[in-house]
Amino acid sequence: MQIIRNIIETQFFCLGLKNQGKHIAFVPTMGFLHEGHLALVKEAKKRAELVVSSIFVNPTQFTPQEDLSRYPRDEEGDLKKLASVDCDLVFIPDADQMYPEGFQTKISLSEITQGLCGASRPGHFDGVATVVLKLFNITQANVAIFGEKDYQQLAVIRRLVKDLNLPIEIVGHPTERSPQGLALSSRNSYLSEEEKQKALVLFQTLSKMRKKCQEGEKKVSTLLSLGRKMIEQVSEIKIEYLEIVDAVSLKPIQKVEREARVLVAVRLGKTRLIDNGPL
Ligand code: PAF
Repeated sequence: MQIIRNIIETQFFCLGLKNQGKHIAFVPTMGFLHEGHLALVKEAKKRAELVVSSIFVNPTQFTPQEDLSRYPRDEEGDLKKLASVDCDLVFIPDADQMYPEGFQTKISLSEITQGLCGASRPGHFDGVATVVLKLFNITQANVAIFGEKDYQQLAVIRRLVKDLNLPIEIVGHPTERSPQGLALSSRNSYLSEEEKQKALVLFQTLSKMRKKCQEGEKKVSTLLSLGRKMIEQVSEIKIEYLEIVDAVSLKPIQKVEREARVLVAVRLGKTRLIDNGPL
């Protein structure tokens, strides 16, 4: 497995391979990898001859209230994990290279970034879209794999690719979960064992809402009040949002008629957790 920290070297390496007719699959990450990330790399392996992953804790997607320095990091462990799933190249730039003095470009999507997580994290998705576009340009990827766990992020990237006619395929990969259903996330490392048990209510709620919908309940307000009741029964969990939206535009809907998705964000102690599922 090759490790490159320099932007130009990475771009040169990837362009060289593309010129030889090789396909590149890309898995961007902020490190502190878990089985969820490794599943994305395994998926990438199926889709191209060369798999590139990146580790970059992107400062521009942290809001002023969020502590960038508190974000968990473990480069040595990450590299071992990526090698174990046969990743071919890991790109590990530093912030000074990605955002050198004088940097002033920002990619900003309007509607799709306003609600849900965007409402409490202003500017977050601009930071994500900007860094992801840079990473696509650097790695020259033909296909990129994103976890459905960050569903709004996936929808934002799909919109970005469509709007800017980027020559890349975006693949969404189902959320990896613990055997009990907790969505795998680097942020789970902030949770105590007791909090992990409490967090299971998210998956239980998503599953219950889906079951109700499949049994015939299509009214969004009814499904949402069922979901709210379930989550509010668990002490110390505070709902930030629980919404049912169109699965592509992320616009709120009144009735489940087309493909719809439930998205939820909660605060549990000091940790913010998100999850989502299809209806
Ligand atoms: O999902 C993440 O880990 C990040 O938002 C991403 C896509 C790597 C951009 O920094």
